[in-house]
Amino acid sequence: MKKIYLMYPKVVGSIAPEIYGHFTEHLGSVIYDGIWVGKDSDVPNIKGFRKEIIEKLRAIKAPVVRWPGGCFSETYDWRDGIGKERPVRHNWWTRWDGRFEPNKVGTHEFIDFCEAVGAKAYFAANLTSVQPLHILNWMDYCLSARGTTTLAIEREKNGHPEPFNIPFWGVGNENWGGGGNMSPEFYGNEFRRFSEIMYNVFPNTELFACGENATDFSWTDTLMRTLVNSERHINGFAMHYYCGSAGDPLKFTDEEWYKQLSQASEIEKIIVRNWNIICGHGMQDSAKLVIDEWGCWYPDGSGPSKGRNLFEQQSTMRDAAVTALTLNIFNNHCDKIRMANVAQLVNCIHSLFLTSGKDCIVTPTYHVFDMYKEHQGAQAIETFVTDNGDFSSSVSVSASVKEGKTLVTIANLSCNQDFEISLESIGNDMPDTAEASILYSDDMHAHNTFESPDTVTVSQTTIDPKKPITLPKTAILSIRL
Ligand code: AHR
Repeated sequence: MKKIYLMYPKVVGSIAPEIYGHFTEHLGSVIYDGIWVGKDSDVPNIKGFRKEIIEKLRAIKAPVVRWPGGCFSETYDWRDGIGKERPVRHNWWTRWDGRFEPNKVGTHEFIDFCEAVGAKAYFAANLTSVQPLHILNWMDYCLSARGTTTLAIEREKNGHPEPFNIPFWGVGNENWGGGGNMSPEFYGNEFRRFSEIMYNVFPNTELFACGENATDFSWTDTLMRTLVNSERHINGFAMHYYCGSAGDPLKFTDEEWYKQLSQASEIEKIIVRNWNIICGHGMQDSAKLVIDEWGCWYPDGSGPSKGRNLFEQQSTMRDAAVTALTLNIFNNHCDKIRMANVAQLVNCIHSLFLTSGKDCIVTPTYHVFDMYKEHQGAQAIETFVTDNGDFSSSVSVSASVKEGKTLVTIANLSCNQDFEISLESIGNDMPDTAEASILYSDDMHAHNTFESPDTVTVSQTTIDPKKPITLPKTAILSIRL
């Protein structure tokens, strides 16, 4: 029997809703035939965007969507996506998939999408191939009050009199790599140059600096050293962590199940390590973590397009387990995290949706976001599990309280053992009944397809939380107390 202690007096902090954020890049079929189908399409749409995705994102309360990249943003000219005449350009990814960028989705269209979803926008600004004035003009166009500047008037003529809701701006992306191959010192000075201009005119935006590549903590240390004595126009440190692959995305072994979870769990050490460095420089009030790309990344070809869509992959119960584990880690470290964006929303790396033409399905990952949605904006409390810490026999847990209700989310990380669990409430009464949702399949390789869209789906039940509960192998459980 595993006991899960809910430590009500021990509050970790508030879970920023944005920790449940998303990411869409002009890459493969994330945008075109992903979220965007076009206004004249037979596929039901709202202002050109796939209605089914919009409705399902509303259902999980998607709080924020990052756009337009990724690496794509480092060659993006926002002017290409404004007005009636849209140029066709090389996309950052053209070399990999031969597709050109039609710019049919630009700033106005993406904001239409966010407004339909009810999400805030997080724009990733290009720092590599433009000057700060270019980004300032984009901000002016997007954020200036109605009828003030020439660019605000141009925005109004293009159909949006009121400013767009874009509170978050990334200042570069992966500048240690595709974003200019910069050293941390060089990037730090570039960040100062750009953020000074951006902050000066739009001080109410949150500006995020580029974080390190996976475990390259020297980037974190040097960047903080470069920024600590400057004017601090930094509101977040945008780290990326992809936990790679272990075996085939669909036909993995038990060992590969554990290897993938072990790789995913590394994110906790990276969070703590980065945070310690940030605190060591006294930057904890300025540079909370923004984990704006995370997920499993397998070789291409397992998705429905069979490799035509760059980076598209299928998602099984193993990806659901990685999602549950990762979101529990984020909740348990919410005091350090400003935002997180799973990469990427549709037809891509660790996606919530797979689409093609009229077909649109959710992956097991979508269901986890649905089961966890009430953590958004809640107070995380500490939990303690009587576990031996070995993946093959452990569960991952987080719990939070909002408006007097507790949400406990539990993932059985074992692919071959069911566990008896009991909930122990410390400092609060346990009710007699609770609503529970469970994501389970007796096959850990189970996944949804266009032909069989509900192979992996959620069941609802009522439980007595004072009695032991059986948590089947690989299952993910959410309990609302
Ligand atoms: O998500 C795909 C790519 O991965 C992004 O463009 C880039 O930021 C990262 O390397």
